Parts: sequence; C-alpha cells; structure tokens
Amino acid sequence: QRHLLGIEPLRPDEITTLLDLSDKYVSLNRARDKRSSTLSGLTQINMFFENSTRTQASFELAGKRMGADVMNMSMQASSIKKGETLIDTAMTLNAMHPDLLVVRHPHSGAVDLLAQKVNCAVINAGDGRHEHPTQALLDALTIRRAKGRLHRLSIAICGDIAHSRVARSNIMLLGKMENRIRLVGPATLMPSGVAELGCEVYEDMNEGLKDVDVVMMLRLQKERMDGGFIPSEREYYHRYGLDAEKLARAKPDAIVMHPGPMNRGVEIDGTLADDINRSVIQEQVEMGVAVRMAVMDLLARNLRARPKEVMA
Ligand code: CP
Repeated sequence: QRHLLGIEPLRPDEITTLLDLSDKYVSLNRARDKRSSTLSGLTQINMFFENSTRTQASFELAGKRMGADVMNMSMQASSIKKGETLIDTAMTLNAMHPDLLVVRHPHSGAVDLLAQKVNCAVINAGDGRHEHPTQALLDALTIRRAKGRLHRLSIAICGDIAHSRVARSNIMLLGKMENRIRLVGPATLMPSGVAELGCEVYEDMNEGLKDVDVVMMLRLQKERMDGGFIPSEREYYHRYGLDAEKLARAKPDAIVMHPGPMNRGVEIDGTLADDINRSVIQEQVEMGVAVRMAVMDLLARNLRARPKEVMA
C-alpha cells in the first residue's frame, strides 16, 4: 500500500504482518537506546487539524526514534487561518518534498482527498467519524498480547458508536480477524445501518457484557453530535458507565480498554480505569508508538522501492 487511509483495504495477512513488526518495535522502545535509522533521510510532517495528545505525540516520537526529520505543523498558526484551503495547504507542503504526511482532520474523507493531491505517503491519524486505522491496529496489538490471539474472541464495543471513528476501524479490523463483535449502547448512539455491520447489538449493558473477553469503552463524542441528542452524563453513567459491577458480567479475565481521552465518571469508573489487573489502557498507549513505527517503516519500504515521482 502507498498510503494508510483506513482498515477497509487491509487483508488479514497484512494486518498480521504489521502487528508482527510492531512487536519488534515494542522491544526497541523498551531498550535503553531506542534509536533506529529506518527513516533516516526521510521527512515526516504531522498536520493535526483537530486536538490530539496520544496520536500526535506517538507519531512524533515514532518518527524521531527512527531517524526521520519530523516537523509538527501548528495548524492554529498556519495560513489556514487566513482562508487557505486544506488542499492548497497540502500542496504547498508537498512542494517541500516530504516523504510522509500524518494527517488528522475533523471531516470524514478529508484525508483521502488530500492523499489524491500529494505524491508522498499519507497516514490517516483520524478523519471525522470515518476511520482511525492506527488506533484499531494498536488496539489489535494490545488484545493479541493480552489474550495470546486475535481471533475467536468475544469483544464488546460500548458507548457512542455512532460518532466514533475508533469503533468503525475496530469493527472492520476485528471482523476481518474473525472475532465476535457486540455493539453496546443506547439506540440513539448506534449508527444507521448497524444491522449491516455484522455485529450483535445490545441496548442493555449487563446483557451485552455477558461472558465477553474484551470490553472496549468509548467517550461520548459531543464535538460530533451536531446539536443532536446528548444524554445527561449522570443518567448515562448509571446505564452505560463501566464499573466493577457491570464488568462482573464479563469473563473473569476480561480486559478493559479505552482509546482515550477518557471522561472518568461518565463512560468509565476512574478506579477501574486505573486497575492494572483489568485495565490495559496504558498498554494501549505504549502499543501506539510501536504500531506507528511499524506503519511508517512499511510505508517507507514502499517509498524506497518506487522511483521518485517528479512534480510537473
Ligand atoms: N485515541 C486518540 O486518538 O487520542 P488522541 O485524540 O489524544 O490522539
């Protein structure tokens, strides 16, 4: 693949190759000397048009540890504020010969559009409610390491599914790897056409969590609710917030996941989120750096194998 725009086009064997390589980067990241020269001579530009802590920091660290020249564009301070379009901004940066563009944008499809206009590799760091492929890959790596496999698991994805690019990418990835996926949440926060996703749907959290191996919690993404139904946080926590009592419905060794950022006391109890016997939330963050290193490593191999495109 030239770009990583989503999970949709990836085959199961490609996902496995990526996760195997990510495991190697986990070891490198745990070593005293974390440097490699994999991206030496390459330029990586991070363009985040939406706030981020984990994704932005891990892409920056990943690029620097692999020897790339990494530039973080401050989109708040860019000429976007003077009315320049996304495409003109991307083409301007493209003229400076970057090799990797990492892009987050609030609009679904914006990263795909941008990828058609540039001649470097583009990585989708989250676009609207569409896809967040590196999040799904790091979730998959976390599950595989915790459970020893990434198939025939029962996985509950809970909360605001409708507005979640994390849910969308995870449903595709975990489905391709032949897991049983349950979507748990209020009907108002389920996407339209949910029946076609090949998942079981539950409105009752206690039923939805019964005997699952993995519980993946999601934040209420109010920034994408467009003035539609926003539940009361207190009522939401009562019905859908994960606490020890609701988790007791899952298997005794079920793991608790959350992509972050978390809203403690809204979708998850803070004590449970910090319980190192059940929660793998910090492991997810750690896997994020390794997965992003593996993604950029594989894209760089493709870049180096292709003749350099010369701009008109
Ligand atoms: N999970 C995730 O994408 O977190 P950030 O918004 O902090 O990058």
